[in-house]
Amino acid sequence: MSELRTVTVETSPPYTVFVGPNALAASTDTLAAASALIADERVFDLFGDSPALSELPRHLLPEGEAAKTISQLERALNFLCEEALDRSASIIALGGGAATDLGGLAAAMYLRGVSWIACPTTLLAMVDASVGGKTAVNLESGKNLAGSFHQPSAVIADTTALMTLSSTEYSSGLGEVLKTALIEGEELLALLEANVTAIVTRHADVMADVICRCVQTKARVVAADPLEAEQRKVLNLGHTFAHAIEQAAGHGVIPHGVAVAAGCGVALEAAAAAGLLQDAALPERIRALSRDLGLPADLAELRDSTGCALPADELIAAMRHDKKSVAGAPRFVLPRAAGDLALDVDLDPTPHLS
Ligand code: GLY
Repeated sequence: MSELRTVTVETSPPYTVFVGPNALAASTDTLAAASALIADERVFDLFGDSPALSELPRHLLPEGEAAKTISQLERALNFLCEEALDRSASIIALGGGAATDLGGLAAAMYLRGVSWIACPTTLLAMVDASVGGKTAVNLESGKNLAGSFHQPSAVIADTTALMTLSSTEYSSGLGEVLKTALIEGEELLALLEANVTAIVTRHADVMADVICRCVQTKARVVAADPLEAEQRKVLNLGHTFAHAIEQAAGHGVIPHGVAVAAGCGVALEAAAAAGLLQDAALPERIRALSRDLGLPADLAELRDSTGCALPADELIAAMRHDKKSVAGAPRFVLPRAAGDLALDVDLDPTPHLS
């Protein structure tokens, strides 16, 4: 069995992200302390027979965004009550970003907070959702509007799971990888550009490297600002547009990371129009990389590839409910250059939404 790679997230207390093939099977010691499992039902069929998971009391969630509702949260909390778990409990959340968001939020709320271990099985959850302690459910008014910051005690990213993902799920993760490269800067961007074929074909070593690099970036940002007072806002690059896109399309219709990729394209366009962009070549470079990775480079490409109309007025209405809005006016993270982002930009997005 190959060695797992590790990244430490220096929060208080710190925790380790384990990355590699068969990480679940190799992490029996870390998982031994767990008392219950909350898992995406499809993922449980694939990984539930792992010795560390199969004996645990379990609660299964519907696939994907359907798990991120108040009623699913209530069911998960009732399950924890029925199991009579006490405050020493540790809960495993297994699945994609929806399962880790829901499982993490149930852990944050049960008895006012018990510990949890994130076991992400999608690329998106490995590089973003499972690291950093953001947990949430969606409300009718918008994405992730009810949630909590609750850091996991460990994250176990079993890269074997990458080969089980549909091309849509995998592309969604690549959208967050692209976003992370824009945040991190030249080194990660160049790594992606140099390895496009290996990335789209899910080459095990290259992807373990890409995931570790993304987790390192996220760990650095989260450790500096765990509660998103300021610097952590960089992680929201493309997200104000993406959440509006997901809301306008209907939750679950357009995968989150695909919307994020289009949102990054819109953010680059808005940054250029606002005179913020210092690297004039960046938009074309990101467009080329997006297309090479099979992602939409902008809203027009997203509309074409999904058949969703995404009317500008519906996108604007959705942005008013965004968590980062101030008095109903959305705030944006816009790139000046790779690795250099402007935060809290107040602009009228309308010209960039047609
Ligand atoms: N997904 C953005 C964050 O964790 O802050």
